[in-house]
Amino acid sequence: MSSDTLTIGNTTIPKVGLGTYKLTGPDAVKSIEDALQMGYRHIDTAQIYGNEEEVGKAIKNSGISRDEIFITTKVWPADFKGLIPAVEQSLKKLQMDRVDLLLLHWPSDDEANKTGAELLYEAMRNGYAKNVGVSNFNIEQIEKARQIAPIICNQVEYHPYLSQKKMLFYLKEYDMFLTAYRPLAMGQVAKDEMLLDIAAKHKKTAGQIALRWMVQQPNVVVIPKTTHHERLIENLNIFDFEISEEEMAAIFALNKNERLTNPATAPKWD
Ligand SMILES: NC(=O)c1ccc[n+]([C@@H]2O[C@H](COP(=O)([O-])OP(=O)(O)OC[C@H]3O[C@@H](n4cnc5c(N)ncnc54)[C@H](OP(=O)(O)O)[C@@H]3O)[C@@H](O)[C@H]2O)c1
Repeated sequence: MSSDTLTIGNTTIPKVGLGTYKLTGPDAVKSIEDALQMGYRHIDTAQIYGNEEEVGKAIKNSGISRDEIFITTKVWPADFKGLIPAVEQSLKKLQMDRVDLLLLHWPSDDEANKTGAELLYEAMRNGYAKNVGVSNFNIEQIEKARQIAPIICNQVEYHPYLSQKKMLFYLKEYDMFLTAYRPLAMGQVAKDEMLLDIAAKHKKTAGQIALRWMVQQPNVVVIPKTTHHERLIENLNIFDFEISEEEMAAIFALNKNERLTNPATAPKWD
């Protein structure tokens, strides 16, 4: 009924990716492999998650061609200066020559962000990353990074309780996309009465409604995380129905600017 991929320039991104924060060890390998076998083709990892080796193993075990899978990894600010060797380490752990998307994981001060953006671009020119982007950057910080490297994405927290209206408007204007992390508000959306009402009408779950609401917006992809087989299936199965305009509006109205990620230290976006 609707496309399960987003295309920006020459890059096609599966709209549902697998979040892997806190997935480590043999269970992580099994779970990521399970996700690949059921059709996930987009995996989100980060150097700081300590699971790039597990992601690499799961991809190898799956037997799926590397070219069919979209892989994102991220570099923590402490490694911005040493970004090139840090990415070489990531590639070794992931057992691959390049990632599809390399992100600066969290903004630092202007000088460090500048160094990070310069080295992101160098990593891209070296062939270590097909695309580059940022995560948790505000608009001003992205504008600066864009003067240095061809930033294609900002990965930020986004779910029905946290508006990203201004950010999304800005990203769309410059043909970039938004990767929504914590898209299930860490599981909270599953119990939301309004989402449960809409879900009943579509014979879906509240989680599926939240994910669908996001991918139905232009330039948005989502990366829900779960360790459960049934939920992996559930979170991927959101492309056989459509939310009406009225339902979209009702979900937008759930916004309460609730940020779940380090609210004390998170930068201001607007
Ligand atoms: N760039 C950044 O700074 C940043 C920050 C945070 C996260 N991320 C990325 O975003 C990914 C997702 O974020 P997240 O893991 O924090 O939060 P999330 O995906 O919003 O929620 C995950 C939680 O929801 C539960 N869940 C998953 N599917 C469900 C379903 N269908 N119904 C009910 N509950 C469900 C999971 O429990 P079970 O596992 O028990 O199913 C888990 O407790 C991360 O894994 C990571 O890759 C990036």
